[in-house]
Amino acid sequence: MRFADQVVLVTGAARGIGFATARRFAAEGARVVLADVSADCVQARDKLLAEGFAQVIAVQGSVSDQGDVERMFEEAVSAFGGIDVLVNNAGITRDALFHKMTEEQWDLVMNVNLKSMFFTIQAALKQMLPKGKGAIVNVASITGQMGNVGQSNYAASKAGVQALTRNLCLEYAGKGIRVNAVAPGFTFSEMTRAIPEPIIEQMVKKIPMKRGAEPREIASAILFLASEDASFVNGQTLAVNGGMYLY
Ligand SMILES: NC(=O)c1ccc[n+]([C@@H]2O[C@H](COP(=O)([O-])OP(=O)(O)OC[C@H]3O[C@@H](n4cnc5c(N)ncnc54)[C@H](O)[C@@H]3O)[C@@H](O)[C@H]2O)c1
Repeated sequence: MRFADQVVLVTGAARGIGFATARRFAAEGARVVLADVSADCVQARDKLLAEGFAQVIAVQGSVSDQGDVERMFEEAVSAFGGIDVLVNNAGITRDALFHKMTEEQWDLVMNVNLKSMFFTIQAALKQMLPKGKGAIVNVASITGQMGNVGQSNYAASKAGVQALTRNLCLEYAGKGIRVNAVAPGFTFSEMTRAIPEPIIEQMVKKIPMKRGAEPREIASAILFLASEDASFVNGQTLAVNGGMYLY
């Protein structure tokens, strides 16, 4: 039970990687806050309750809205007394070739994937700094590392997540707080479900392991970075991509 009694807030926890992560934290003893813009976070919480994890709550709200983020943290603190681990997992895509990309597509992706972390991490630090400890794991992407046609907004946001992760390590490592990132490769989830099968086949051919990831395989890496097993890992981005991008 690596997270016994710890309080973990996971954003984008209604499904996919976020839900798999919330479930793993609950299974390892954590009290878990499932935060998501979708009302499905309530069903996600109910699934975990039905699996016997009693210490889980759901908070609906958008990570790109500061008021919503403040409410997520207030509800977490009032239910469980604080926050020990923050997982910034919520993310979206709005793909278009750059010359056709609208300002709305650019702003939406930047706001949900990157600016959100300005709100969530400031709120988390309010809880973590007085205690002198805490762990933050940000979800980046292989696309932020190697690029992908039609995803310039997404790639820029995810590269920003890595830069932010490094910078926050420099600022808070001395205060007992570790900030790391996971950069998943192709993972089966709602986000990738819309990709046509022939494109998925082409993509999988480029992965040395010849398959995509299951959300739980990304969750494992997130839990490692949040845990004491990673006590001297700070400011890093752990690539979880089946060998697709090596650097
Ligand atoms: N699936 C992949 O291949 C892949 C690869 C690399 C990185 N990622 C990243 O992993 C993370 C999770 O992706 P996923 O594949 O599970 O996607 P998903 O679309 O299945 O899940 C994303 C979750 O985030 C929530 N969300 C969206 N906007 C939000 C907002 N404004 N506020 C709060 N919650 C919001 C959604 O409702 C959803 O529950 C994302 O950051 C994504 O960019 C995914």
